[in-house]
Amino acid sequence: MNIKRKIIIDTDPGQDDAVAILMALASTELEVLGITAVAGNVPLNLTEKNSCIVVELSGRTDVPVFSGCSTPLVRNLVTAEEVHGKTGLDGMKPVEPSIPLEEKHATDFIIETLLANNPGTITLCPLGPLTNIAQAMIQAPEIIKRIQEIVLMGGAYFEVGNVTPAAEFNIYVDPEAAEKVFSSGVPITVLPLDVTHQVLTTETRVDIVRNIGNKVGQEVANLMTFFERFDKEKYGLDGAPLHDPCVIAYLLEPEIFDGRYVNVEIETQSKLTRGMTVVDWWGVTDREPNCLFVGKADSTRFFELLTEKLRLLP
Ligand code: BDR
Ligand code: CA
Repeated sequence: MNIKRKIIIDTDPGQDDAVAILMALASTELEVLGITAVAGNVPLNLTEKNSCIVVELSGRTDVPVFSGCSTPLVRNLVTAEEVHGKTGLDGMKPVEPSIPLEEKHATDFIIETLLANNPGTITLCPLGPLTNIAQAMIQAPEIIKRIQEIVLMGGAYFEVGNVTPAAEFNIYVDPEAAEKVFSSGVPITVLPLDVTHQVLTTETRVDIVRNIGNKVGQEVANLMTFFERFDKEKYGLDGAPLHDPCVIAYLLEPEIFDGRYVNVEIETQSKLTRGMTVVDWWGVTDREPNCLFVGKADSTRFFELLTEKLRLLP
């Protein structure tokens, strides 16, 4: 009997978040217990709505969506409409979701789910700022030991920053939350810009997705086409990094990726380097490794896998 891996996706959709959610909901290897929205790419009222839109698009209306924290732990929210558009899902025709949000707060859902399941059986998959996850740890520290693993998109080392010269967006927005998570002792796998910048949405790849022949394929192609214009211009690349789906691909086929167990500390004090992930890649300190920091991906296999999964949706 195949045992499905139980996950909670914490997200701020975001076109790339949307693709990650669709990929996860298409995967029979995964049991998505819930989607928890957090403020990030756009404010919470939009990320919660977008989460519902994406779940509905997948046809998996059995998966509950919860709304979480509207601001970082101690700072004002910073959003990224210049990348994701006004709605966060620009590229897709605006729609009103017909599935409702759950009444429970996202952090209560995370806490209650971890307490109700056997220790070491739930993986958290954060695709946005780490506010909901840190808040749940603060509210109920007893959950920390029960988390199987946290597999997250965030941070950068060799690629340095995308929102400032030093920092990646998800960590920059809520560095105090990131510090809480990285120092929690939970096994962590990090999919940073170093790896997501190898996974590019080229024209050929987008065409393959558009031609899958289902509605999801068309919508994902529309989302990717909108999303890539910003990074294509910024980096002068053929396509844009498809960040968040790397988390789901890692869960499904970790052999696509390669990384190192290293120590990562989060800069919270400096104005200049706020949210920088200080990675001891070369082992020059005696700080204990606290995560697997991924540095390489087989992008051809990644896009094959993504296409295989999207093909299974309506
Ligand atoms: C991350 O920030 C957001 O713009 C994306 O959704 C991704 O999670 C990349 O830095
Ligand atoms: Ca995201």
